[in-house]
Amino acid sequence: MNSLVRRTQQLSLWRTYCVKHNAPEAASATRNTGKSNYGEFIGHHQRQARRSIVVQVSSEKSYAELYNYCSRFGSILAAHHYCVRQEEALHYVLLEYATPGEAEAAIGAGVTNGELTGVPVRSPFLWFRAAAAGGGRRSPKLTPSPMPHLVSLDGTRQVEQAHLLELMRSARDIEEQVQLLHEHTRLNELGIRIRFLAALQVQLAIAGMFPAAQAHPFGSSVNGFGRMGCDLDLILRFDNDMGAKSPLEASEPSRLVFHTKENLSNGRSQTQRHMECFGDMLHLFLPGVCHVRRILQARVPIIKYHHEHLDLEVDLSMSNLTGFYMSELLYMFGEMDPRVRPLTFSIRRWAQSCGLTNPSPGRWISNFSLTCLVMFFLQQLRQPILPTIGALAKSAEPGDSRVTEDGISCSFARNVERLGFRSRNQSSMSELLLQFFEFYSQFDFHNRAISLNEGRGLSKPDHSAMYIVNPLEQLLNVSKNVSLEECERLRIEVRNAAWVLESEVENASLPDGEGERRELSWGVLNLFKHPERAVIRPNMFFKPRMVEVSDLFEQKEAGSMSSPNP
Ligand code: CTP
Ligand code: MG
Repeated sequence: MNSLVRRTQQLSLWRTYCVKHNAPEAASATRNTGKSNYGEFIGHHQRQARRSIVVQVSSEKSYAELYNYCSRFGSILAAHHYCVRQEEALHYVLLEYATPGEAEAAIGAGVTNGELTGVPVRSPFLWFRAAAAGGGRRSPKLTPSPMPHLVSLDGTRQVEQAHLLELMRSARDIEEQVQLLHEHTRLNELGIRIRFLAALQVQLAIAGMFPAAQAHPFGSSVNGFGRMGCDLDLILRFDNDMGAKSPLEASEPSRLVFHTKENLSNGRSQTQRHMECFGDMLHLFLPGVCHVRRILQARVPIIKYHHEHLDLEVDLSMSNLTGFYMSELLYMFGEMDPRVRPLTFSIRRWAQSCGLTNPSPGRWISNFSLTCLVMFFLQQLRQPILPTIGALAKSAEPGDSRVTEDGISCSFARNVERLGFRSRNQSSMSELLLQFFEFYSQFDFHNRAISLNEGRGLSKPDHSAMYIVNPLEQLLNVSKNVSLEECERLRIEVRNAAWVLESEVENASLPDGEGERRELSWGVLNLFKHPERAVIRPNMFFKPRMVEVSDLFEQKEAGSMSSPNP
């Protein structure tokens, strides 16, 4: 409750500040960040990225000098410091201006480094060189603004494991443990900002030829289930065609039609060819982009790369609109009930600690499939916490209509208020956690498929070990990659977890000594059997790859390239 009050106060201070400094756009964007719909959340961060630049500095001590220098281009509203590659300690400051024009002015004032050869690409990624002897002329600041406090955050790495354990040990009860785990491991504000900047960089790179191009983050970076260090999934569209028609377009299609290049081949090989070309462009021209790998034979062809200024691993696709809309559905589920995200984080941490999930794709269950298991569990409760996707689809209004180029409907009610769904379920987090483990220890994976569309089990249409109907492409199985052994292991592990948690819940209600508890692992910590596995490794760009599995990456890599950058 206290933190809610604090957050409301912070938001109102921030808005006062923005209004005072002539940044109504920034002010209005935050009005909705408390609880927003997906479109508002995405739009807010996209606009924020357009007002931002990232400057490499020698250390955070350069901030005052950088602030003084960069203030000549406009009002700086926020500053975040982060470090990549701890061993070499490369320091960066992300500056947010009040308007996109001010950020553009700062970028426009950039120069190429005369001493080194480099492709003269303009992007929001800059470095701050030492002042020439004499210090140079001081230009007046355009709009004097108080220097914002430099927020030193890590945008990419996990909170220290020991610190997290200590926090969780000293929690009052299991509920608080679950909340703490969520608060301290979820993607933070800087993590979100840098992901939207990475998307903007791709978009700006092709804006000359494709002025309507859009690079949209999707997956865990934006669906509210992302943890620190998660990959960025990006979908690039050459035209702003996300499957929605504007009312004007729908009522009166334009009579002026663009001449275009003829399609050379079928849609899939054309996408592969475009991505190949695009991979070359990223590799040759985009600052910070390195270790570019092309995985073009997969069901959804992707280009993978590492961004060295953001310490970020990126998967870029061009043809995964259903994945994008799936992220919206998960975001909505997370917003509907405050228990959904913390519960999912605990279950994902548990699965990781017992080796059920793994950062590389394989015959094991993916985080996405596991998240679907949690959502399904919350739908099928006697007092459901989440509505079915079928109910959301039924309540769709004309403005909610989205159809992909393959004709797949991604239409569902975007405004959940209209759905009128209210959960009467009052269960605590520990009760739900226990019920989750009990439910899946009895679930008949052998004969039943999981349908989030209907919120009930269906008979399995094939012999896959685990079958989760893909909510938007209902002929596909999200967990097709899961082997029989892995499914069996999941059943054993959920049963064990149910036993452990049952006794933890009983012990938690005993009036035992507080001091004793702080020394020992207790509550959900005892679910994490191998805490060392539960440490989520920081981004690694050379992940071991298992090629034959996973729904997304099911076929062999077609080729790879690496950047000249070390
Ligand atoms: N997706 C999907 N169907 C699949 C796999 C993925 O619709 N069979 C979509 C989901 O929206 C998912 C997104 O693609 O969130 C990205 O997939 P992935 O990166 O595998 O999962 P994340 O949810 O991003 O989780 P992680 O943090 O493990 O990357
Ligand atoms: Mg992902």
